[in-house]
This record gives sequence, structure tokens and C-alpha cells, in this order.
Amino acid sequence: MFDEAITAQRCQWAPWQSKLCSAEQAAALIKDGMTVGMSGFTRAGEAKAVPMALAEMAKTNPLSITLMTGASLGNDLDRLLTEANVLARRMPFQVDSTLRKAINDGKVMFIDQHLSETVEQLRNHQLPKVDVAVIEACAITEGGGIVPTTSLGNSASFAMDADKVIIELNLAAPLALQGLHDVYFPEMRPERTPVPVVAPNSRIGGTEIAIDPSKIAAIVVSNIPDSPSTVLPPDEETQSIADHLIKFFTYEVESGHLTPSLLPLQAGIGTMANAVMSGFAHGPFKNLTMYSEVLQDCTFDLLDAGVMDFASGCSITLSEERGKTVWNNLDKYRDRLILRPQEISNLPEVVRRLGIIAVNTALEADIYGNVNSTHVCGTRMMNGVGGSGDFARNAHMSIFVTKSVAKNGDISSFVPFVSHVDHNEHDVDILVSEHGLADLRGLAPRERAQVIINNCVDPSYRPALQAYFDEACERGGHTPHCLEKALSWHHAVNVEGSMRSFIKEQELAEAEA
Ligand code: COA
Repeated sequence: MFDEAITAQRCQWAPWQSKLCSAEQAAALIKDGMTVGMSGFTRAGEAKAVPMALAEMAKTNPLSITLMTGASLGNDLDRLLTEANVLARRMPFQVDSTLRKAINDGKVMFIDQHLSETVEQLRNHQLPKVDVAVIEACAITEGGGIVPTTSLGNSASFAMDADKVIIELNLAAPLALQGLHDVYFPEMRPERTPVPVVAPNSRIGGTEIAIDPSKIAAIVVSNIPDSPSTVLPPDEETQSIADHLIKFFTYEVESGHLTPSLLPLQAGIGTMANAVMSGFAHGPFKNLTMYSEVLQDCTFDLLDAGVMDFASGCSITLSEERGKTVWNNLDKYRDRLILRPQEISNLPEVVRRLGIIAVNTALEADIYGNVNSTHVCGTRMMNGVGGSGDFARNAHMSIFVTKSVAKNGDISSFVPFVSHVDHNEHDVDILVSEHGLADLRGLAPRERAQVIINNCVDPSYRPALQAYFDEACERGGHTPHCLEKALSWHHAVNVEGSMRSFIKEQELAEAEA
């Protein structure tokens, strides 16, 4: 079906032809009850043909598995696998609305993990062993080594841990990806020595996943591109958030707290992060670096603009338009890019050593600076904590951004008490909304609350939140609360679909006073 000469060019391993099979034949190696580790991180570099065949096969031959990946999958794979009832357990991250519903209905057991931790737990027998790994490759080396594609994620450890490895050789992935990866495994404890990343451009490992080739159970040739990223152009609020942050960093540089190269940057995926990062093209910034998870359009914009010198991540997720300019010109970026395993791109040891500036997105934050990134109204999973916790706790400066309201103003993203805590007040240095920036460093809880209310909260909700804080302060405490009211704003969303009654209540109280 595929041109043998082109396939052979990518397969240096002599016995490759003996392992060639269809996606259906390879999928049949996956049996009911197995644990499967698949490549894929933020819609980049996931195995595609085999999971598609697995979902199809399950329609007539039902089976359910534990599926581990790096992070989210593209090509609607999580939807297809959920609809085919293939997923009994899923970890460590997802962004698919069908899977999200199945998780929140209790049909799929979702294990929401810090993304640096999954394979560490795997190697140390804290998670079930991987039976089959399915890894996308752009080439197979002479010794049977796997050259990954647009993400490295957890692929190397899945392939090492698995009994059997299925390689999906994707002819749509540029062969020029070869050489970008840096595959490294931390030593086993208790003899572990420091992981020797001392700068974003430190190369510490090999360029392929060197497995025992006797584990290669199947090679499937595919030709399916990654799904493009869905980053939107910034809207008014997103742009304001980016502007507040750029103003803040400009001040930090001008006052000598940071140099124009700042410190290595980490930014979550999405429109907000893209807008913030793009802002660095203007201002006193130069010789920037990234030490992040996902490299998206803005990374390449900054590299092209000469403002950024180097970017290290564990995946590359681009819009269709940016993909056209990057994938055919990888050589232009070769000396300025590294793709690492996610346990290294997100390693707390390295994040602390390099002094990362971390910018992540919150669903909601409370008046004391606790952040909820995952659970809508405390119970319903959105996506997962992802890598935000790996970075936030260990960063030089941990920043969270959010729009001040959600659902057309029915919900305030700033509340008396978050309904679920992913990042506690000790891990949050700065909060930013479209209204302003709250610098919480060195402030006590009562001071933090006032700065957050003054600077970040939407003006429509500000009086109600101020009234809550004032009443709480009258009752006393280091971190004052009216416990019987602390989650009443979320309760109102569940009952009335909105928090707006608190605005009205406060207006009435003020009118009566
Ligand atoms: N209560 C209820 N819903 C809320 C909300 C709140 N306080 N704040 C936002 N939402 C809803 C939005 O309305 C939107 O809903 P929709 O999909 O139905 O339109 C959805 O949440 C996404 O919000 P949006 O403002 O579009 O932001 P986003 O796409 O940037 O996503 C997170 C925000 C927090 C969900 C996302 O950044 C995330 O999953 N973060 C955790 C993982 C992470 O940080 N990864 C990066 C680490 S490297």
C-alpha cells in the first residue's frame, strides 16, 4: 500500500519487513484488560492508525484497557476510543469533550497526574506494567531504535517498560525530526545523581529510543498528519492579560530585578499562553529561552524575530498555517530546539535549578491565591492538572492567568474559596486577569486578598467579594473565612446556574445602608 522504497529509506533496521503488518493486525495484539502506553502529547506525535483500528475492532469484539499517554491526543482518538467503550482507565491528561463526559459520569476512571510523575511511578512499580507500547516514529535506526516524531512525552519509558512494542512509522512526519530528541532516563533511586540539565540547551541523552529490538512485535506504516492546534487570535481580555504581564516584566527588567533575557520561560498551551508569549516580541527583551512542555506557534515567532535564542520542550503543536513554515524548514531551527521526555522537561529538580518563570491558566482562584485548574464547581473534571503543578511549585516565579468571569459573566473566576485546590496559596506568586495584576509575593493572606480584590476581580463582583472578606475579617483568623458561605458561590451556580444573585444581594444591602 505504501511505497516500499520510501518506507525502506526510513527503516534502517534489517528485519523490518518481517514485522510489517496492517493496523488491524497490530491492534489485535492488544487484549482485554491490558495496560497500553501510547505516544502523544498535546495533539502531537500520537500513534494514530493503531488506536483507530482498535476502536473499530472493539465495536465487534469488545475490550477495555488502561490507556496511558504523554498528554492529550489528536485526531479525535480519545473520542473514538470512548465511544467504542475501550477505555476503562485513562491517565494522565485529556482534553476531549466526549471522554470528559464519560469521566464525569463515572464510566472512565481518570487518574489526573502531574505529567512529570507518570513514568517515574511506572518504573518503580507504583503503576501497572505496560503490556503493549504503541509509539509513533519517523524512522527506525539500524539497531532497532525508535526515532519519535513531534512529541517525546512518555514514549521512551513506555517502550522500555512494555513487553511488546508496536511502531507506527508515520510517513507524514518529516524525517528531519531526527536529531531533535534528547532521550534520557534518570538513574534509579537511591543511587540517583543529579539530572545534568544546567541550561535549556543542555543535551544529556541520545537521539533515539534504544529498545531491545526483540520486543518489536509489529511495524505499521501510516500517513496521517497531526491535528493542527486550535489556538485562536487573542480577544480583548486575553490581550489585556498579556499586556499586564508584559508591562510587569518590562518593569522588572528596568528596575534590575531581571535581565532582558529574563529566566527560562514556561507557558501552558492555548490562546492565553500564546498571546502572553507573543507579547515578548515587543519590549526590552532579548536572548530569551524557553524550558517548557509544548512549543507552539509563538515559540517559532520569537525564534524568527531573533528575540528567543533557544527552546526546549517535549512536543511541538502548531497551527496549520505555522506548520507549513516550520515542518519544511526544520533545519533552520535545528540548533535552537530540543525535544525531551516529559519527565525531564517538567522535572522539578531542573525547574528549580534553572529558575523557570511559569505562566499557567487557572479555571478559578480565591481571594487568598489558591488556584483551581481542573474541577468546575469542585466536582466536574475539565482537562487535568497537566504540567502546571510540576512548574508552579518549583518555579522562580509562578504566575496564573484567568479571565475575571466565565459564561458571559454568570461565573466569577475569583471566589471566596476555590472549590478544588490544584495549586495552593504557597505556590502562586502572581495572579493576572484582564483588569490587572496582583503581585502576591511577600504578602500575608489578608494583604493578598485585598490586592486580588482590587486588581483582578471583575468590577461587577468586586463589592460582593469585598463584603465577604470584610465579614470574614471581623470574625478573625490568619486566613479569615465565613465557612458557611465559603462555597455558596459555587452552590449558587449548581442551583441557579449563576453567581449573579450575590451582585444583586450586595446592591440591595448597599441601598439599604
Ligand atoms: N467556572 C466554570 N467554567 C469555567 C470557569 C469557571 N471559573 N472558567 C472557565 N470556564 C470554562 C470556560 O467557560 C470554557 O468553557 P467552554 O469550553 O464551554 O467554552 C472552559 O472553561 C475553558 O476556559 P477558557 O477561558 O476558554 O480557557 P482555556 O481554554 O485556556 O482553559 C483551563 C483553561 C484552566 C481549563 C486550561 O488551561 C487547563 O486545562 N489547565 C490545566 C492544565 C495546564 O495548566 N496545562 C498547562 C501546563 S504546561
